[in-house]
Amino acid sequence: MKSITSTLIMTLALVISVFSSQPLFADDQFYGSDADITFANNLWVALINAKLVGENRINVQPFQGNAPHGATQQVLNTTILFNEENRQVIIKANHMGNKITNKDVYTDQNKYLKAYTVMFKMEAGYDPTNMNWFWVKYNPNGEILKNPKNEFIAGKFMKGANKGCIACHQAGGGEDLQFLTKH
Ligand code: HEC
Repeated sequence: MKSITSTLIMTLALVISVFSSQPLFADDQFYGSDADITFANNLWVALINAKLVGENRINVQPFQGNAPHGATQQVLNTTILFNEENRQVIIKANHMGNKITNKDVYTDQNKYLKAYTVMFKMEAGYDPTNMNWFWVKYNPNGEILKNPKNEFIAGKFMKGANKGCIACHQAGGGEDLQFLTKH
């Protein structure tokens, strides 16, 4: 009897840890690791070279979006050659300013730029439950930004938590966790 009870307790603990926001193991780091930082820095270089970020990036028609992203946004959805693979990447430029219009941003795409939020499609198996996206947030100069807990926003960002990139895109995004494909 005793072993059945302990097996039940073990199972229950496992189920709770799987469904709670805490990772099962303390060393199960989903984001912000050295490897994530290196990856995000290399990705930035590839994005610069493809003119998808940086001052000389391709200019596209802005639109008015929702929090937490910038009020005025520009989105580029394309594929790049990265580590010898063609990969999908979605870059959102987030602009903020008092009463800025789409025209203001289109006229000077760097003036109100606050951050880039990027979704990069990794290999199958990277994070299958979340459609294998690598999530990252850069400032206009390509520095990886941190959340209020001082953690780098790069990798499977806040996987398992009830807020952050993955949680919100899971709740509101369409196919492939994108809002773009919702309609
Ligand atoms: C609270 C909800 C929420 C959070 C958190 C969030 N997003 Fe989004 N995201 C949106 C919404 C809504 C859109 C669609 C555009 C809009 O309405 O602003 C969007 C659009 C995007 C897009 C354009 C592709 C698409 O899905 O339409 C990218 C890229 C993106 N988000 C990246 C990120 C990254 C990276 C993070 C974390 C650093 C993040 N998002 C956090 C709600 C969120």
